[in-house]
Amino acid sequence: MAARDTASLLVGLLVLFHTWGVWANVEVNMEDRVEVFRGDTAQITCMFTSSDGVGGMVIQWFYVKPSGEKQKIYYQDTTMKVVDRGTQFTERMSVNGTAATGEIVLTISDVQPVDELEFICLIKGLTDGTGEGRTKLKVFETPERPTIEGVQTGISVNEDGPSKIGVCEVKNGFPKPNITWYRNNTPLRADQDVVKVVPSITTESTKLVSVRSELSMKVTKEDKDNLFYCEITYVVPGGTRMTETNRINITVYYPSTAVSVWVESPKGKIKEGDSIKIHCQGNGNMPSSLFKISKKDSDSTDSNVLMMDDVTRHQSGVYECTSTDTDTFEEISGNTTVFVNYLDPAVLVPKDTVVVDQGEELTATCNALSSLQTQTVWIKNGVEISLGHSLSLKDNTFETAGTYMCVVTVPEIEGMETNGTLTVYVRGRPYILTPENTEIEASYEETINLNCDVRGFPAPSIIWTTSDGKNLETTSQIKTEEGVMSVVSVTVTNDITAFCNASNEFGTDVLAFKITAINHTTTPATTTTISSASAGSRGFLIAVIIICILLLAILGSVLYFLYKKGKICGRSGKQDLTKEKSSKDNIVVEMKSDNTEEAVLLGVNGEKQPPNDQ
Ligand SMILES: *[C@@H]1O[C@H](CO)[C@@H](O)[C@H](O)[C@H]1NC(C)=O
Ligand SMILES: *[C@@H]1O[C@H](CO)[C@@H](O)[C@H](O)[C@H]1NC(C)=O
Ligand SMILES: *[C@@H]1O[C@H](CO)[C@@H](O)[C@H](O)[C@H]1NC(C)=O
Ligand SMILES: *[C@@H]1O[C@H](CO)[C@@H](O)[C@H](O)[C@H]1NC(C)=O
Ligand SMILES: *[C@@H]1O[C@H](CO)[C@@H](O)[C@H](O)[C@H]1NC(C)=O
Ligand SMILES: *[C@@H]1O[C@H](CO)[C@@H](O)[C@H](O)[C@H]1NC(C)=O
Ligand SMILES: *[C@@H]1O[C@H](CO)[C@@H](O)[C@H](O)[C@H]1NC(C)=O
Repeated sequence: MAARDTASLLVGLLVLFHTWGVWANVEVNMEDRVEVFRGDTAQITCMFTSSDGVGGMVIQWFYVKPSGEKQKIYYQDTTMKVVDRGTQFTERMSVNGTAATGEIVLTISDVQPVDELEFICLIKGLTDGTGEGRTKLKVFETPERPTIEGVQTGISVNEDGPSKIGVCEVKNGFPKPNITWYRNNTPLRADQDVVKVVPSITTESTKLVSVRSELSMKVTKEDKDNLFYCEITYVVPGGTRMTETNRINITVYYPSTAVSVWVESPKGKIKEGDSIKIHCQGNGNMPSSLFKISKKDSDSTDSNVLMMDDVTRHQSGVYECTSTDTDTFEEISGNTTVFVNYLDPAVLVPKDTVVVDQGEELTATCNALSSLQTQTVWIKNGVEISLGHSLSLKDNTFETAGTYMCVVTVPEIEGMETNGTLTVYVRGRPYILTPENTEIEASYEETINLNCDVRGFPAPSIIWTTSDGKNLETTSQIKTEEGVMSVVSVTVTNDITAFCNASNEFGTDVLAFKITAINHTTTPATTTTISSASAGSRGFLIAVIIICILLLAILGSVLYFLYKKGKICGRSGKQDLTKEKSSKDNIVVEMKSDNTEEAVLLGVNGEKQPPNDQ
């Protein structure tokens, strides 16, 4: 009984060992994973050996569904090759090779992310031996170029929590790409209340993945100079790659720590009457900052520019600018001192007019109060006559009488000046300026004007009389600063003498005009103005005309003489010149008054005198 039991156990063990041996007879070798880009063709190789030889085997391909279930896609034995219908691979797969070669290849074209599955190659031997191998198919897609968008609005450092900085986005990668934010060259790690990175992942129907990442941060003033960007990492067959977005910067609003105030215009020193522009600026950039420029008890503005027109010295002082941060209500201020320079009107001593006696001395002063150094000049009749605030006139005469202007300037500021005038009268006996000619010849019935220019102060009274005791009526009389200018019109009927009698409390001066009437039959009676000067030049003019007529007459006679003499020739220029001179001398003797017209013509033509004979 025990022996029979032992025998049956042995048989059972043998059977078991036999079966084991068959199991071990089919050996399948496959790669762990096969990696391809989306759209490419994947080749999954299945290699096998069997102790029975490789002929007549059954080959099957499966993939593992996400649920874990196996799905057959292919069957092959010695008689047939069957691609299972209705799977996602039916149209895109092919299997190469036969059992005889011990190598069989599953080829899948146009691989898609949904194809990322585990594939099983199952080999069944002729006997009961079976073997299987597994390969994971990995699919990759390089994502599109990533984008970055920063916030356009400025961010205040006063914000309590993190503020949105920007968004990075990378589209259609597989598997999911990663986004990492960088500030300058340092990656930003999410940090409680300071840095927040919120990713959002979108999976398309194609299983391609888009990732978006929003960065929020509490900004500091330094962030105004920082550059932000995203780094994208993604996997490709055999490794990982990375790409970066553009750099962006952000506008950071930060409060001022100091404000400066300055006079923007005018540049340089300020004078009364100028328009002033005061500017104020803080070193921060908070748009919510409020500015106020003010001076104690004076102008102020709720802005960062203060304009003042036509300023006076009272606007000198300290101008303060205050900047208030409306978020924190912190105030800071700065100030500037404005000084408005002034120049008061000139004060002359003596004032307006002064009367001095002849020979007396006069000292006048001119002063103008100013905040700056001044310079004074005295001007008479447009000519600068003295420098300095005091003017001294010694030994006064009628010549020193007149108007003196003192001009006070501030050399440091152009256009800053004032002036004042002083009129000086010199007291004394009248004095008539002697004209060039007091002896006048006039035509019968001609009307002539006689001028009498008198110096003297107080202004002399002028009386015109004639030698026969008659009074002549004054035509016009002008009072000048220096005296009086009187004119009388006389119609000449016979020889007369007219007197200009100028007198004041200091005495009298008299001037006589002798008028001779002449009869010119050719000259019609006209009105000629005989001024002191023109009366004299008239006689001279007549003399010149007479001499001219005489010379022309001489020329005429010379020409006539030559004409009579006829042909003469061959003389050198030098000889001509000397002869010419001598001939002129001769001609004085034989002057004749005829043929003046011809002489005039020659005169016009110049010195081109015909040669003489002899
Ligand atoms: C599979 O078939 C292709 C042609 O379709 C051939 O080029 C290739 O060599 C074959 N591979 C194997 C392992 O037989
Ligand atoms: C993306 O990030 C995850 C988690 O940090 C990491 O496991 C994965 O390897 C990263 N992928 C790439 C492509 O760097
Ligand atoms: C930063 O932004 C300003 C305008 O906001 C731009 O002018 C400047 O070029 C930017 N700098 C850099 C490095 O991007
Ligand atoms: C003006 O500013 C200075 C500092 O810049 C300060 O010392 C001074 O007290 C200020 N004056 C006024 C009137 O605010
Ligand atoms: C004197 O001052 C008046 C104004 O007060 C000005 O119009 C005039 O041009 C000045 N004259 C000179 C010569 O500076
Ligand atoms: C000029 O006038 C003064 C005062 O009126 C008089 O005394 C004097 O005789 C006059 N002389 C002549 C020349 O008319
Ligand atoms: C001048 O001529 C007029 C007539 O034309 C005559 O009446 C007068 O007497 C003459 N006078 C002299 C001074 O010859």
